Amino acid sequence: MTAATESNPQSTSASTASEPLPEELTMAVEAGREDAYFALVDRLNAASVRKRFECYRDIEWDAPQMRIDPMDPHWESSRDRGLGKTDWYWSLPETTRREMGLGSVARFMFVGSIFENVLSRGLLQFASRLEAGSPEYRYAYHEVIEESHHSLMFREFVDRSGVAVQGLSSTMTAGADRVSGFGREFPELLFIFALGGEDPIDYAQRRALEEEADMHPLVERISRIHVTEEARHVSFARAYLRHNVPKLDKNRRHELAVATPLILSQMAGLMMRPSQAFIERYQIPQEAVDIAYTNNRDHKVRIQASLEKIRLLCDELELLPEQALDLWKQYELWPEA
Ligand SMILES: [Fe+2]
Ligand SMILES: [Fe+2]
Repeated sequence: MTAATESNPQSTSASTASEPLPEELTMAVEAGREDAYFALVDRLNAASVRKRFECYRDIEWDAPQMRIDPMDPHWESSRDRGLGKTDWYWSLPETTRREMGLGSVARFMFVGSIFENVLSRGLLQFASRLEAGSPEYRYAYHEVIEESHHSLMFREFVDRSGVAVQGLSSTMTAGADRVSGFGREFPELLFIFALGGEDPIDYAQRRALEEEADMHPLVERISRIHVTEEARHVSFARAYLRHNVPKLDKNRRHELAVATPLILSQMAGLMMRPSQAFIERYQIPQEAVDIAYTNNRDHKVRIQASLEKIRLLCDELELLPEQALDLWKQYELWPEA
């Protein structure tokens, strides 16, 4: 990348389609190493200016190739995952199969926009407790700005798809409000929640970009933008946890350890399975749900793989006491031996 494109976010953003996917900005943040931690925050702040995207500037929503046609063959499921593994799915008319596929993509984006909203509210609460001069304050606002554009692009996709998506239940809405309050009261838990959404979404989008030769151009553009900016977000969340979890007292650390698998299982359920409304709308038989999700080993392995980085971080930060480990296993988040 030339110096000219480095300093010009517009031209930088326009060139991402052919670029390799970015990795996290990494730097070892040892417990007590304030300088390493703040150096990383400074790098992330600088990168947030150099490479950033805007929903209505950097996506050609009205270009012909970006049009969402429910009858586009792009939307059909592959035979090796989810409902594509069932005979029931392939017995449906082609039009229904495509409609369901687009519905699944739209739901994934819709859930993503809800996640970004909760995280953004949490980040604003987090920023509100930081003192003047804190580089984390600037970083939190960079992330809120980026998540706001992600929310806009996810919702724009949903609206253009014409898919009727279902919002959160009242219980989940209350849970989301509680999570955003962690930004002020228990930031370590907010950043576990952040990773619980960001790592699986990032995992799914990276795999799709690397493996699916024939992605819809609009989904590809949205995914590339998201993966690029999420690399910074997961980098910060991990660094924050490495820097701050060792300072927690015993009770707080235990609370965090036990809450982690609970949060991760809720998020996995929301993101990796169809909603009840979707199941009812298409009258998906229980047997097909079992084959595709409940009893599908590949599906469980994929969820566990998407949580691998959080699992390793929890291990590193000693957040796996017996009670927490039992919950990881009970929710099938822990890889089987
Ligand atoms: Fe995001
Ligand atoms: Fe993010």
